[in-house]
Amino acid sequence: MPPSLFSFQFRIRNLPLRVPSTTLGTIRVMNNNRHRTADSRVESNPRVHKLQQLVNTNASGGWEESWKQGVTPWDLGRPTPVISHLHHTGSLPMGRVLVPGCGTGYDVVEMACLGRYVVGLDISEEAIKKAKQMSSTLPNADYFTFIKADFFTWHPTDLFDLIFDYTFFCAIEPDMRSAWAQQIQNFLKPDGELITLMFPMDDHAGGPPYKVSIADYKEVLHPMGFEAISIVDNKWAIEVRKGREKLGRWKRALGQSSL
Ligand SMILES: C[S@@+](CC[C@H](N)C(=O)[O-])C[C@H]1O[C@@H](n2cnc3c(N)ncnc32)[C@H](O)[C@@H]1O
Repeated sequence: MPPSLFSFQFRIRNLPLRVPSTTLGTIRVMNNNRHRTADSRVESNPRVHKLQQLVNTNASGGWEESWKQGVTPWDLGRPTPVISHLHHTGSLPMGRVLVPGCGTGYDVVEMACLGRYVVGLDISEEAIKKAKQMSSTLPNADYFTFIKADFFTWHPTDLFDLIFDYTFFCAIEPDMRSAWAQQIQNFLKPDGELITLMFPMDDHAGGPPYKVSIADYKEVLHPMGFEAISIVDNKWAIEVRKGREKLGRWKRALGQSSL
């Protein structure tokens, strides 16, 4: 499997592998013979508590503040492994792709290639600034763009062949999930595909991240005509998320010919 653009970047610049200072789990990463361990179950992670404080006490600017303060405990510091896998095995649709709540945009950059144009969308100016800084000189820079906008009020100029949601569904207020599904329907071509990496599937209270279940997705996607093509455990999940993450692929059931 060819290295991702980001891992390539890490090697040539000889930068230390950037890892989340904490994640939404407990992570152990080895780099330059150093081990970093962060105890960070959702319930016990102080950085997740800080994120919750920022977002819950500042409905309009909480995400921006979390980016400005560097409180980004979800950030993998590299593309999501299953996205790299799907991309490199030719298992992702081509055409136009949307990544809502893209954050630093590693997945946007990872998927972008000749024949696949990827739009990363985030409400935070700081996140978009960071994403652009990290990616503007990459060789595939013609195949992606980053837009600062609110997913719930944004109007794209063209529809998408694929939408990839990872840690966006769990970041929004649960009472916004129907509106999320409505926008997914609005933004996808009739035969477009939605890929949801469903996380965190556990029992913690509160959020963000809010706990999710397959039923939560079905509840809002079925009324929009989406059916799951497949839902499987994500065996490429990073260690600390294993067992709490499922990959769902969804499509709209198109009307059948009566002839
Ligand atoms: C938990 S982070 C996930 C980031 C990225 N998907 C990742 O996995 O690294 C959620 C992101 O959604 C963004 N966000 C929150 N509400 C949004 C909205 N209404 N429209 C667009 N982005 C939003 C936040 O700024 C944040 O970057």
